[in-house]
Amino acid sequence: MKTDVDRIQEDLRAKRFGKNIFFSRVVDSTSDWAKELATLGAPDGTVVIAETQKVGRGRLGREWVSPKGGLWFSLILRPKLKPIEAVKLVFVAGLAVAEVLRELYGLRVETKWPNDVLVNGRKVCGILAEMNSTGENVNYVVVGVGVNANFDLEKALPEELRESATSLECELGRKVDLEELFKILLEKLEYVYTKFSKEGFDPVLEKWKVYAGFLGRQVEVVSENDRLCGLALDVDGGGALVLRLEDGEIRRVFVGDLSMRMKGESLRFVVGCDFDEFKRYLERAGRYEKEGELDWLETFLRKGLLNLIVWRRNSEIVGHAIWHESNTEEHRTGDPRDEEDRETLRRLLGGRRDFVELHEVWLLDEYRGKGYGEGFFEFFEEYMQSKGYDGIVFYAHHPAALTICHKRGYREGGFVNIEGTAEHVFYLSLMK
Ligand code: BTN
Repeated sequence: MKTDVDRIQEDLRAKRFGKNIFFSRVVDSTSDWAKELATLGAPDGTVVIAETQKVGRGRLGREWVSPKGGLWFSLILRPKLKPIEAVKLVFVAGLAVAEVLRELYGLRVETKWPNDVLVNGRKVCGILAEMNSTGENVNYVVVGVGVNANFDLEKALPEELRESATSLECELGRKVDLEELFKILLEKLEYVYTKFSKEGFDPVLEKWKVYAGFLGRQVEVVSENDRLCGLALDVDGGGALVLRLEDGEIRRVFVGDLSMRMKGESLRFVVGCDFDEFKRYLERAGRYEKEGELDWLETFLRKGLLNLIVWRRNSEIVGHAIWHESNTEEHRTGDPRDEEDRETLRRLLGGRRDFVELHEVWLLDEYRGKGYGEGFFEFFEEYMQSKGYDGIVFYAHHPAALTICHKRGYREGGFVNIEGTAEHVFYLSLMK
């Protein structure tokens, strides 16, 4: 890359990221250089970039092969985070890379826990976040980003990497403008990082999960001294992968290499969703069309009073479920149940209990009648058990839902009247 730093900086729309750029044709590792600069006091947003790295570093002490034609850079950040939270920056960077590759080149991109970006199932970008801290204070984090851009895999990468890696050139059949990619990435990184600093991790994670093709799939996670197989249920607010192991145990995993155990697309269930994407799906589904309904839903979701699980096929949303925490006395805190409702639930649940109420389960017409509903209930029960809830209350009148509840051992406890419809009340205890 003929990196013309001045030219990049001239029309860079990012305010802080890239204000200071250090460039060299060859370095050992841009992250090592960035760490030296950070120790010397380089400000937040300083960037180090090189054409090639002699000793590029990957996660878990691995080598990162960095031939000419790739985009290799490291960003110095000085976030107000606790050391344990620094891992969140990997998701910030992963989201920024995924969005740029999609927006700039129209690629079908996936994020893979914890730090990879894939195209067509192969790794196109790796991210390495390294932190320096004193006690409970983070001094700096160096976020290293490596994008396999303009090189031919056969020529540039050793044989053992060719199966699992790809490059933009390989996927697009042409070279990309590296300067443009670098500039737009810096802008996006600053945008996502600013959002994270102002609004917290949740909105970043929600968006990152939109790309997370492994969620809801059977995966294998290999770490230094463990190999775990199970269903990838979620990535939680601490960045940990939540796995349901084959024996049913729920495990949070912090370190490891994840791979999908089965290729191919089936329907999968993903916890949480970016609201703008969800809104587009609701329009297609013809849901929440009455005046004010959508605003109401948005407010409740954003406040965390309602929660969302979406059903995805490929990356598209094809169904959804809404749930909230509840108990026998109140629908939710400050919203008491009427006496009849309270009695029905007390009888069914046996005394006062905290549970989750499954509020709405919806699937686009063309996916109905294919057995996905039962798959969802299986997922939902496991997920709620992993979160430690006592049980699930579900109100249903649709014949398919009644069949599923009976089949899965939900206890029926009579009827309640919800907005003019008599609904059966079902309960499944999750307590062992
Ligand atoms: C991984 O997937 O293992 C992380 C790879 C990170 C590679 C980048 S390239 C720029 C920066 N400098 C390094 O030495 N590593 C990171």
